[in-house]
Amino acid sequence: MYRSHTNGELRLANVGNEVTLSGWVQKVRDKGFMLWIDLRDRYGITQLILDEERTDKTLFDQAKNIGREFVIQATGTVIERQSKNNNIPTGEIEVLVTKLTILNAAKTPPFTIEDDTDGGEELRMQYRYLDIRRNPVKENLIFRHKVAQEVRNYLSNEDFIEVETPYLIKSTPEGARDFVVPSRMNEGQFYALPQSPQTFKQLLMVGGMDKYFQIVKCFRDEDLRADRQPEFTQIDCEMAFVEQEDILNAFEGLTRHLLQKINNVDVAEFPRITYEEAMRTYGNDKPDIRFGMKFGELNAVAQHKEFNVFNQAELVVGIAVPGGNSYTRKDIDKLIDWVKRPQVGALGMVYARCNEDGSFKSSVDKFYDQEDLAKWAEVTGAKPGDLVCVLSGDTTKVRAQLSALRMELAERLGLRKPDEFAPLWVVDFPLLEWDEETERFHAMHHPFTSPKPEDMPLLDTNPAKVRANAYDLVLNGNEIGGGSIRIHDKATQALMFDHLGFTPEEAKAQFGFLMNAFEYGAPPHGGIAFGLDRLVAILGGQETIRDFIAFPKNNAGRDVMIDAPASIDEAQLTELSLKLNLKS
Ligand code: AMO
Repeated sequence: MYRSHTNGELRLANVGNEVTLSGWVQKVRDKGFMLWIDLRDRYGITQLILDEERTDKTLFDQAKNIGREFVIQATGTVIERQSKNNNIPTGEIEVLVTKLTILNAAKTPPFTIEDDTDGGEELRMQYRYLDIRRNPVKENLIFRHKVAQEVRNYLSNEDFIEVETPYLIKSTPEGARDFVVPSRMNEGQFYALPQSPQTFKQLLMVGGMDKYFQIVKCFRDEDLRADRQPEFTQIDCEMAFVEQEDILNAFEGLTRHLLQKINNVDVAEFPRITYEEAMRTYGNDKPDIRFGMKFGELNAVAQHKEFNVFNQAELVVGIAVPGGNSYTRKDIDKLIDWVKRPQVGALGMVYARCNEDGSFKSSVDKFYDQEDLAKWAEVTGAKPGDLVCVLSGDTTKVRAQLSALRMELAERLGLRKPDEFAPLWVVDFPLLEWDEETERFHAMHHPFTSPKPEDMPLLDTNPAKVRANAYDLVLNGNEIGGGSIRIHDKATQALMFDHLGFTPEEAKAQFGFLMNAFEYGAPPHGGIAFGLDRLVAILGGQETIRDFIAFPKNNAGRDVMIDAPASIDEAQLTELSLKLNLKS
């Protein structure tokens, strides 16, 4: 038996017990005549003690050779500590060692295995197995497990069935590139790894499963960011015989349950806003509504003077920065530099100070009088002591720029509190999105999303205006889930493919299996998928999903620990008929 107890278990009540513990050596303190070893495992740390007086000499000498991260087994008696450590649950006892076995020696780790380590990101990723020994990483993985377990409990109690779907499939368009896998047995042919199990979950509805979920890996070859990994996990869900309202209620229920169980936070109704309103009010389809700073459109009150920058702009829009009038001229100049950075891309920023006495002072006083500026304040909701920041230009661009400024200022003002949770449904997304590069309409969500029936006539006249029965769940400024009511009849699906620029032959070749299924009694259905990594990170008060993934990829999509991707040898290439293709 390697151990009788874990290292987080022993208390004063165990004093006098003979115990055996196993674990890693966190620290050795050698006072010459006395030696303490902090022994660590997943459950905690227990202090071992050996001394010249009470410990057998050979054992004492042997213990002196033990180094950090050695794996050892120790047997001894639980005794009460002389000086207690109130910071750890086992801090009132220690184990007087009578037998010690080195199970495995360890090299000195390349970084300290402490909560605050000296290891940089790349090094920690290279030795992720050592990083996982550190409390913050370990706790995040345990936290993730708890969230996943609550998801399974909740959905199972609601009659959802977890069904596994295949990984070696054909392309499912979710807007990214596919990772592909060559087939040895089918020369020159490739599987695609699923960007999501979208088509399979729809087929499960045709198959009568009624309520499906799966905690499932998805693969997308896209540019990586803090909230994106090439392989990530979805809580993928689908329901039959539902309307949008049913889905929103069902998954509001799941989210409320998680916030309650995991964060002890009760959220009443989740607010809902349309995509159009989100863009107008926050310049963003995933607004953080933990704070205000809503957009005020100023065209009507700013385009009547000689200021050409505004007069020529499609949109003039501002936000009120709470307490922003305290910013010095230098602070504001820095803010202007910030919006002019290429990542944000504004050409400049106009501002108006709202003085405590009700007067205003703006960077464009030459053009606008006090009465004008009072209107700016009114439209943006600015109060005395605030600062109104105004951007202008092309509507889409300027909204994105002001949204970036809003988030940055909120961050600086400490308004993005990690322990506050503000979920929000964004509904009525456009069905289609114009893609400048290909000069074609793309499905904004995916091609299986149902248009709103009342907007169908617009498909031919004004496709960009067609709204979809599509929705996103946003939490603290992050898109944690998205879904839609699906098309469930062949004719509408064919019409959709046609509008997306597929010829009937292409549609049949790629999605014939789905269209066929629709001819055998497909029920009305819809669903949603949550990004589990994102959800877990946000519930954990963070935004970097890497910290909640056991073995993540870096920003270049590499696993630096196992060094993947890597080349494969000639023989393997030949077997997969790849070399041939590459050369030809
Ligand atoms: P969507 O593409 O919106 O919908 O994805 C659902 C959710 O998955 C998360 N997500 C990601 N998380 C980490 N890394 C990524 N690269 C990544 N990409 C997406 C997001 C997102 O909200 N099949 C549809 C769902 C449906 O219609 O039911 C789908 O995949 O949190």
